[in-house]
Amino acid sequence: MSSLLDDPTKALTEYVSHPSVSADSSFSSGIDGARDFACERLRELGFSVELVDTPINPVILATRGEDWWPHLVIYGHYDVQPPDPLDLWTSKPFDATVRDGRLFGRGAADNKGPQIVHMTALHRVLKEHPDLPLRITYLIEGEEEIGSPSFRGFLEERKDSLCGDLLLVSDTGSPGPDQLVVTTGLRGLAAMEVKIFGPRQDLHSGVHGGALLNPLQGLMRACASLHDENGNVTVPGFYADVIPPEQWERDELKRLPLTEEKYAEFLGVSEFFSATGYSALEGIRFCPTLEFNGVGGGYQGEGSKTVIPAEAFAKITCRLVPNQNAEDIAEKVKRAILKACPSAVRCEVEVKGGGDPYVVVPPGKPGSSGQETDLMKKAFSVAEICIEDGFGTKPIYLREGGSIPIIRDLKEVAGLESLMIGLFTNEDNLHAPNESFNLEIMEKAIDSFESFFKKLAY
Ligand code: BES
Ligand code: MN
Repeated sequence: MSSLLDDPTKALTEYVSHPSVSADSSFSSGIDGARDFACERLRELGFSVELVDTPINPVILATRGEDWWPHLVIYGHYDVQPPDPLDLWTSKPFDATVRDGRLFGRGAADNKGPQIVHMTALHRVLKEHPDLPLRITYLIEGEEEIGSPSFRGFLEERKDSLCGDLLLVSDTGSPGPDQLVVTTGLRGLAAMEVKIFGPRQDLHSGVHGGALLNPLQGLMRACASLHDENGNVTVPGFYADVIPPEQWERDELKRLPLTEEKYAEFLGVSEFFSATGYSALEGIRFCPTLEFNGVGGGYQGEGSKTVIPAEAFAKITCRLVPNQNAEDIAEKVKRAILKACPSAVRCEVEVKGGGDPYVVVPPGKPGSSGQETDLMKKAFSVAEICIEDGFGTKPIYLREGGSIPIIRDLKEVAGLESLMIGLFTNEDNLHAPNESFNLEIMEKAIDSFESFFKKLAY
């Protein structure tokens, strides 16, 4: 029987064509389309597919195999980031286009391409071995890019279906088509929004300037107080629970085929600015941060306008590392902002949620428990072999800077540890214009995952 998965590039093109932007409800038909696309592929692969309703976008839950077989859970997300700014795309974001060995389109790398890799590999394996003795549960959510607000509720309700032996995730990064990373940790996230209120309405800055505190000035005072001049976060207790990396993690980092110089060039900056005692490449994975993601208030249009705005705001997120706790950090940051904000304006800090950091110690590495499930032990060793076969080098074991908060929840609630194999790269422009997926990585990864699934089952 012919299947769309006979041609993964074509399958990815069709998956990308459904504009499944979760942040904007006007894209709801794209959400439906991408969800149905994924369900259809899983049905073709012989899974029984269930759509679990949530307050926003349904979760796809699909299974194959017998209850008593080793049980692998595979995670993915069918939603994507908004495509804006549209005028910076060379080709249309939902009209996937192949150029220079890459498939361009919103969601091509995050996370549709990696899902097509897993599915294509399974398609090949199951064609040859329809009775592959591996129970697989697929879990594909539609709210990852908005912080998975429905996921905890879903998990409480359905945790019994998810009590497997291991979670497989390909939603993290690698250096490139000659070197993959097995991701051993993800940073956590704490998000908040600061609002500053001044006069009851915008004022003429000549008529009233000199009488009152400008809310933008109050906001900048509060925000500027959160870091010292070296870039370290000054919030009391912010670093209290941070665990420094293990020596083996620092050693792995030396194998990364990326120099600090190249990295600065990629970023387009002339110098780095990282926390005391850490290099830039260490800082992005081993250190917590406090970032301003957006600040606003006052006149933003062309030319000048002499005004004292009534309000100002800042959107802040912190990236967290073990053993920081998202709620605890959000409270500490909130307190520091309220304290630093001048009393001549009114300040509100709303905590917006987030998630705790996640770390997995590969079986056999220093600090591993030895109590891992058989499937987990086998999967980590088989993955190393299959990656070396497909890509020519052994994977590097590294923590990553990004966050997938539900990975930690799946561990806490369903006891699942994760094997995370990174398939996208810095050049893929995640969340930015001209997102793309490297087709050489796609081809090699399909081969690697084909032997991975076979070796895992037999
Ligand atoms: N795939 C990313 C997470 C990621 C990126 C992990 C790079 C490792 C390296 C995911 O889709 C994502 O963007 N997550 C958000 C989470 C947030 C919306 C709660 C993030 O990290 O900002
Ligand atoms: Mn993302």
